[in-house]
Amino acid sequence: MNYSIAVIPGDGIGPEIIGEAKKILEKVGSVFGHEFLYTEVLMGGVSIDAHGVPLTEEALETAKNSDSVLLGAVGGDVGNSRWYDVAPHLRPEAGLLAIRKGLNLFANIRPAYLYKELSEACPLKKEIIGDGFDMVIMRELTGGLYFGDRFTREIDGVRTAVDTLTYNENEIRRIAIKAFDIAMKRRKQVISVDKANVLDSSRLWRNVVEEVAKDYPEVTLTHMLVDNCAMQLVMNPGQFDVILTENMFGDILSDEASMITGSIGMLSSASMNESKFGMYEPSHGSAPDIAGKNIANPIATILSAAMMLRYSFDLDQEADAVEGAVEKVLSEGWRTGDIMSKGCRQVSTTEMGDLIAGKIL
Ligand code: IPM
Ligand code: MG
Repeated sequence: MNYSIAVIPGDGIGPEIIGEAKKILEKVGSVFGHEFLYTEVLMGGVSIDAHGVPLTEEALETAKNSDSVLLGAVGGDVGNSRWYDVAPHLRPEAGLLAIRKGLNLFANIRPAYLYKELSEACPLKKEIIGDGFDMVIMRELTGGLYFGDRFTREIDGVRTAVDTLTYNENEIRRIAIKAFDIAMKRRKQVISVDKANVLDSSRLWRNVVEEVAKDYPEVTLTHMLVDNCAMQLVMNPGQFDVILTENMFGDILSDEASMITGSIGMLSSASMNESKFGMYEPSHGSAPDIAGKNIANPIATILSAAMMLRYSFDLDQEADAVEGAVEKVLSEGWRTGDIMSKGCRQVSTTEMGDLIAGKIL
């Protein structure tokens, strides 16, 4: 089969890690007989440099017309005045928000899984890690504070900034359905995270999630307040299967969940719309401080490409091959600098890509 992929290398380490993910896709293509056709799209700082905006209409159209999107990372050092001394809607990250909205990617799936090989890198105590953990954060991605009205102005002579947090029941229902669907394929537990003791949007969230739960009698639903969830993640991470939450809470909790896996360099993510279309990207950022040094960890992006094979193209066997290759390379002791521990062998970005490609047979 042929699959068209819009590839967005973006900024910082983006081009390096995307290069390794493409290397893996090429290997998958030759072993399993597929052809991946790439169209490169500019987004973020590189698009600002070329076109003056972080995402052009044409770039969005190219992404829309492909079978899926593979993204490295966007954004740079906030000290970079060329990208950051401009209105917020012209900064690199605005391109990311625009493509999420433009492609209607409302469901952000962020798995956080502790590889037993990396348990040394986990900052939690052994008794807390227990048998490890394997959770998925289902983050709402096109609503809430990120997309509400906002302004900064002087009110009665006082500088005042306003951000608004809005959710309607349809937005809540469709993300809840995604969370319950994924729970059905896992351990059948959804923990819905909100701040219902304070926020109206959270109280509506809770009600709608309960309505959706009625259609999934096999799934256990629990509600948890977001502050408690932040604490539970470092106290008893093994209790989580699927975390369902709104945009801002999901942003914060997914960084926390990724850190307890040992390295943010390991975590993939998928952002999906109503259909099988998705944008796949590592959960980490563009790491401008290490860009161009061939030391970044490409595994999160490679695992994101595996998610693309599974969720957008229904190529489960191919996705298993990539994930299995990553585990083999880790169990042989190969590490990039961020996940390095005693007794392991340190390799560069490109060497890590070569090693993983070599295990796809
Ligand atoms: C993420 C990032 C983005 C977000 C930023 C870069 C706008 O932190 O994908 O988690 O907040 O969604
Ligand atoms: Mg984030």
